[in-house]
Amino acid sequence: MADRVVGVLGAGYVGLTTAACLAHLGHRVVCVDSCGSKVADLRRSRTLIGEPGLDSLVREGLAGGRLWFSTDLGALAPAGEIVLCLPTPMAEDGTADLGTVDEVVPALAGIAADCAVLAVKSTVPVGTSARIARRLDRADVAVVSNPEFLREGHAVDDFLRPDRIVIGAVDPAAADRVAALYPGVPAPVVRTDPASAELAKYASNAYLAMRLSYVNTLAELCERVGADIGPVAGIMGLDSRIGTAFLEPGPGWGGSCLPKDTSALVHTATTAGLRSDLLRATITANVEQRNRIVRKVRTAAIGHPAGSLAGTRIGVLGLTFKAGTDDLRDSPALAVVAELADGGATVTAHDPAVPDPPVPGVHLVDDPVLVAKDANAIVVLTEWPQFRALDWAGMAELAHGDVVVDARNVLDPDDLRAAGLTCRGLGRPVAREAVP
Ligand code: UDX
Repeated sequence: MADRVVGVLGAGYVGLTTAACLAHLGHRVVCVDSCGSKVADLRRSRTLIGEPGLDSLVREGLAGGRLWFSTDLGALAPAGEIVLCLPTPMAEDGTADLGTVDEVVPALAGIAADCAVLAVKSTVPVGTSARIARRLDRADVAVVSNPEFLREGHAVDDFLRPDRIVIGAVDPAAADRVAALYPGVPAPVVRTDPASAELAKYASNAYLAMRLSYVNTLAELCERVGADIGPVAGIMGLDSRIGTAFLEPGPGWGGSCLPKDTSALVHTATTAGLRSDLLRATITANVEQRNRIVRKVRTAAIGHPAGSLAGTRIGVLGLTFKAGTDDLRDSPALAVVAELADGGATVTAHDPAVPDPPVPGVHLVDDPVLVAKDANAIVVLTEWPQFRALDWAGMAELAHGDVVVDARNVLDPDDLRAAGLTCRGLGRPVAREAVP
């Protein structure tokens, strides 16, 4: 492996994780990104991506001479394999925007080494690998689908210890070359055709979204029938066909992937002439979940789920789309906050990972306790674990209201009750929150 060079195109969240981990696995990796300032930072080991373990792997790769960065596409010329990690964001119409990929393919055609393999790690619609191969027009270069399944906050671990490595290739030799990128990685290698590999990525993310919309709907049902989502989800999860993960109710699913991928799959199905009611309902239920949280906060602040919030103050804990990341992209918390502000509320928010005001009209505070100041209601929107241990008695003193809407079931209702507050979780029977 010593003399082989692997190219990674794109130094974003997926590309940088891929480059650093491939270097860690023993490859010599050149990572190319068009952003000069990002490349300059990376050359100085400044990643600006808060992924656990990523900084040290970049430093390790640079120090060991196994990883280097460039803005020049030509730096990919010596690479036997090029891993394409370019952004494919959601376009206005909900489809995957392949503009960045389309832009680079013609240049790659003139740069890629003889018999190079292009592994497409970006999440792309079914048929894109074949489309890239056609546009590349290099019979000697195989284009292979190699989708990633990285979770934000766990990217390095998910790369080095994945549940599976997926390779969608027409040419078995090309599949072998991609499989050889992952020496010693303890995971089953699934070899299939490109279309199946591409669809499996969307299918996985859309399933996760559907599962969450289902559990959020179940949580609402629990509240109406006096059941408790905790044991309900626990009992479900004991079925080995269901499993316990990804059954926590919340303000809805967000981030840079699930919304984009679920929407893109609806488009793929529609284009294929297939009704996609289940997928559309998954998306609709997710919007409804945010509205449900807004109604809960309204009820906590003014006593009923509708009506103006003018003159009220709402304290918000958590803005990122999930704990353990600083990512605000398509965060349900931001949607809820915007709705509350639009309703006339003055919103004071704290998120340990968000230093700057992401939403006009939202007053950010460094001290989470201060979100309670004069608040008519408080709402937890991101499941940062440190929120459990806040000085709830002190916050009760500061607040006007005494209801905390816990949209992540991350708080302990007994602690809040002891502080004189009522904790309204999701899917929890009211009796459980009442005074014993
Ligand atoms: C997701 C997929 O998990 C990953 O495999 C894929 O490669 C990229 O998209 P990520 O976007 O990092 O990863 O977020 P994830 O951890 O999956 O959470 C997605 C959303 O679901 C978040 O808003 C999170 O808060 C929410 N969620 C997750 C819940 O509401 N309840 C849960 O039990 C789990």
